[in-house]
Amino acid sequence: MLAIRNIGQLAVVSRGPIGGRSMGRVERVESAAMLLDGEEIQWFGPQSRLDAPGGCESIDAGGGCVIPGLIDCHTHTVFAGTREHEFVQRIEGRSYEQIARSGGGIRVTVDAVRAATCEELVTLALPRLDRMLHNGVTTVEIKSGYGLTVDDELKMLKAIKRLGSLQPVEIVGTYLAAHTVPREFDGRAEAYLDTILDEKLLARIRDEKLADFCDVFCETTAFNVGQSRRALLAARKFGLTPKLHADQITQIGATVLAGEVGAVSADHLETIDDAGMAAMGQAGCVAVLLPGCSYFLGVSQAPARRILDANLPVAIATDYNPGSSMIESLPLVMNIAATQMNMTPCEVLVAVTANAAAALNRSDRIGAVAVGMQADLVILDVENVERMVYEPGRNCVRAVLKKGRIVAGRD
Ligand code: NIG
Ligand code: FE
Repeated sequence: MLAIRNIGQLAVVSRGPIGGRSMGRVERVESAAMLLDGEEIQWFGPQSRLDAPGGCESIDAGGGCVIPGLIDCHTHTVFAGTREHEFVQRIEGRSYEQIARSGGGIRVTVDAVRAATCEELVTLALPRLDRMLHNGVTTVEIKSGYGLTVDDELKMLKAIKRLGSLQPVEIVGTYLAAHTVPREFDGRAEAYLDTILDEKLLARIRDEKLADFCDVFCETTAFNVGQSRRALLAARKFGLTPKLHADQITQIGATVLAGEVGAVSADHLETIDDAGMAAMGQAGCVAVLLPGCSYFLGVSQAPARRILDANLPVAIATDYNPGSSMIESLPLVMNIAATQMNMTPCEVLVAVTANAAAALNRSDRIGAVAVGMQADLVILDVENVERMVYEPGRNCVRAVLKKGRIVAGRD
């Protein structure tokens, strides 16, 4: 048993998914305490009512705020190489799309990942995850999608799975072989899909538990709606739940497809329309917004307020990748969501906890403060969440608990 005492404010986030219109209300308990039993939350409430058993260990939160562990539900954290030359090209006026069409973009990272071994990919990703953990992140989704051959995609998925056993951050794998058409299949997207949707391969991914989800980049520079549908339905037969990179640059009906195939989330949504919102609403699909990506590319943000008004559950993630969002800090992206998309700090908190858990089909276990939930918690050195979102340039994390155990901390 472990007690957390002297909590200035406990943010009692309830289980996701939480619809956009309710995300602005999170119950707070001032002068709070918690009791953890092994990996789980056993009790929380006002400190005056704490009834800790004798000999119970305790942590002093120092008057700081306690929130659920942050969940980064959309990342490409496993990659090799960097693309600062494209960053400079964009500053000089070229767009992400122009760079992709002229052979740059994702394909540059594909070359670097193909040249790396599984061990090298793991070694590159470990310090990234360690920094994420120190920023309060306790669960990270990681996509493949920079291998684009059967062997290289398997290599990425194995690296992703291995990362989960080497450090405390919980890792969720997503199969994104349909990220773009590789050079050797130029103009032959269907033939490429034949290779990555091979039934034996999909069965292996399922049997070896290499991924929970299948994602597709549904975009004019990648896969059209028909091709995306084909990929997601094929993978769904093997237990891989659909996700989509949808409505990012052009509006081609990707979010309507997300609803049709029962995707757990549709991500990006910069160009979402009313039909897409309706389809997602009907399917109970989480809207994952990636404000760090639009910020990094210098383009318009997703219409967050409209999406919240439509009552879709909104999650926020970093989209950490070397091309469109070289940002591994979820707290920074929380600030970008507030300042650039007009989301309140309270809505942002729900978006990176309860609703991010829902985007990963894990609401039963993580993303909330409730009795019986996994004790993934962050102790901040500030008194409230508003203060954390307001102060992005400084790490406000005092300590991080994963499954009831302190796994990172300053003091
Ligand atoms: O989510 N949009 C597609 N995929 C990534 C970018 C990948 C890359 O440029 O390397 C994204 O933005
Ligand atoms: Fe992405």
